[in-house]
Amino acid sequence: MTDRWVETLEEQAREVLPEPVHRYFRQGARDAVTTDEATAAWDRFRLLPHALRDVTEVDTTTTLLGTTLRSPFAVAPTTLQRAAHADGEVGMARAVAEAGSLMVLSSNAGSTFEAVAETGAAWWLQLYLTRDRKVCEPLLERAIAAGARAIVLTGDTPVVGTKYDGPGDHVWEVVDPAWLRVNFPAGYGLAPGDLKATDLSTDDIGWLRERSGLPVVVKGVLRADDARRCVDAGAAAVWVSNHGGRQLDHAAATADCLAPVVDEVAGDAEVYVDGGVRNGRHALVASALGAQGVFLGRSPLYALATGGPAVVVGLLDELRAQLAEALQLCGTTSPHAASRDLLQAGPDVGSRSPV
Ligand code: FNR
Repeated sequence: MTDRWVETLEEQAREVLPEPVHRYFRQGARDAVTTDEATAAWDRFRLLPHALRDVTEVDTTTTLLGTTLRSPFAVAPTTLQRAAHADGEVGMARAVAEAGSLMVLSSNAGSTFEAVAETGAAWWLQLYLTRDRKVCEPLLERAIAAGARAIVLTGDTPVVGTKYDGPGDHVWEVVDPAWLRVNFPAGYGLAPGDLKATDLSTDDIGWLRERSGLPVVVKGVLRADDARRCVDAGAAAVWVSNHGGRQLDHAAATADCLAPVVDEVAGDAEVYVDGGVRNGRHALVASALGAQGVFLGRSPLYALATGGPAVVVGLLDELRAQLAEALQLCGTTSPHAASRDLLQAGPDVGSRSPV
């Protein structure tokens, strides 16, 4: 096994998953242009390493909203983890705890918040707000009581982006849709107010902060002006994401959107990124551009599918080792010390001067 196994996880998962589940995990919206471009956008960067630097001691740790992680890699919210592996989100959480990482639990998780909390993993709740905001309140209360440390408001899903399924069964013919509602009170999903809110605004950030008493992260921000609006409304962090290309197809690559967002809000809020990150070098580039956290969506799902929590631990450990090596070879000893002077001009690396 070489470190390239990370890049073959999707193929390995294809061998063990029912076809409709694998398709659901892999697919992007419409023609999947955004999904397909994501990794290539990170790969376009070229590095300008420093020579003659002492890199004996490397420290990959990072702190996200007060939680210290062994590396900037953390697990993004994804539904249907129970379709990847019988242990579902609980298995993912066990792995996250062992690897010293953090996971964001989807509001449509198929395991209870309490069972995830029992693993000891650091976790945040991801929330899709509903048309009637009150419908979310019991979910919020349950997550807070179980120990969620932050609320992640997904802002890019007023409606669910269309995906084209091929022939064969649809995912909901092989997976129980009840797995999306495990943490909601009985009867959720039947009233019109249960639908996703199409009227999200920055007011929701203040409402969530007040209602939960927890820091609020806004996920799905691609524009600097939106990042500023979120932070001015009280967001503790913005998460540059296009939902893995599953919402608006032809949305810009996150690797290209990160720098302008960092330039706008750095110092006022934390900035995270996801989308197509598949190796330690990608995280080095993200760190150099100013991201504090680097989230993984599909890779941990595929890892969970191929061998359960142990493979997720292997994935997180391997990515951390790759990042450490990339940092050393760049003459840098921590993600925080990585700055934009490591990146050769080419893609938009923004105007922020090196730290
Ligand atoms: C997602 N994503 C997602 N995001 C969110 O806010 N709530 C959710 O419930 C889900 N569910 C979900 C399911 C599946 C199967 C996928 C692949 C993705 C998006 C996810 O959090 C993240 O933004 C992307 O997956 C990151 O891109 P990569 O790492 O998959 O390339």
